[in-house]
Amino acid sequence: MADQNGRLGGKVAIITGAASGMGWAAVHLFLNEGAYVIGVDLNAENGAQLTESVGAASFGDRFRFLAGDVAEEADIIDAVALAQSSFGRVDVMFNNAGVGGAFGPLTETEVDHWDVTFAINTRGVFLGTKHAAKAMIAQGDGGAIINTASVAGLTGGSGPTAYSAAKAAVVNFTKNAALELAAHRIRVNAICPGIVFTPLMHRGRIAEAEETMKRVQPWPDKGESEHIARAALYLACSDSAFVTGEAHVVDGGYAVSGGLGGQQLIGTREQTRAGIAYGTTGKDPEVRTIEE
Ligand SMILES: NC(=O)c1ccc[n+]([C@@H]2O[C@H](COP(=O)([O-])OP(=O)(O)OC[C@H]3O[C@@H](n4cnc5c(N)ncnc54)[C@H](O)[C@@H]3O)[C@@H](O)[C@H]2O)c1
Repeated sequence: MADQNGRLGGKVAIITGAASGMGWAAVHLFLNEGAYVIGVDLNAENGAQLTESVGAASFGDRFRFLAGDVAEEADIIDAVALAQSSFGRVDVMFNNAGVGGAFGPLTETEVDHWDVTFAINTRGVFLGTKHAAKAMIAQGDGGAIINTASVAGLTGGSGPTAYSAAKAAVVNFTKNAALELAAHRIRVNAICPGIVFTPLMHRGRIAEAEETMKRVQPWPDKGESEHIARAALYLACSDSAFVTGEAHVVDGGYAVSGGLGGQQLIGTREQTRAGIAYGTTGKDPEVRTIEE
């Protein structure tokens, strides 16, 4: 049952990429902690399942789903407007939506695929921050913005090149936004997940993903969506009242293990093919085999 006195009791949160993985876990955790939640996702079919699961948990009156694209400014404006019309305000923005995007050797990467990767992973974070901050500044009593980056944005070899660059941009964007918005008591932090067992990461190849994890991650247990949702909860609530501009790594020790990841995570399979992956949005990937 809902706890109105939870760590987010009465707060209004927008969560993007809500219909799968970390976003799905965060929706349930935030609702369980007393928040009112707007879930935004491109995948309307999974969004309907999310709405059903939230209703089954008796949270339906504190949840609304919006089918939208974080790369489109109009959709983000709609999400903020829905939060205001449904629940009166915006206190927390969790810019979590993301896709793997362009993959393959950089010499084979098409400009359009590079741009789409940045539009979803980086522009989406900018737009969510821009419009949530506008609403929070108008409200006048602060807020919390959380952006999902990745350990891939902190070093080389932990993800495709365009994705890693887009996530590195999210880390730096978070720092500058934190500086600019501090005077308004709006905290802006990033989460850098390591290997987290979501559909985006394992793509149905669970055994292969577990093998990779054992090779490169010091901590013996798998990273789960719930681990990231809990980090987001910490950054969203007053437990982190003096924390801003931080890139919070949640990775079972992957990043501090230095060279363990390297090129290993990319895999040779991807280097013989190039294209773009749209993750769990429901949109098919575009893949071509690279001629020798
Ligand atoms: N899983 C990992 O190992 C891992 C590691 C580091 C970072 N991340 C990041 O964590 C975030 C969440 O990933 P996840 O693993 O839960 O993936 P996921 O695929 O399970 O969920 C991502 C959700 O985002 C949605 N989405 C994608 N593009 C969108 C768009 N343009 N507009 C609206 N919704 C969109 C998808 O439809 C999906 O429901 C992403 O930003 C991802 O890059 C994941």
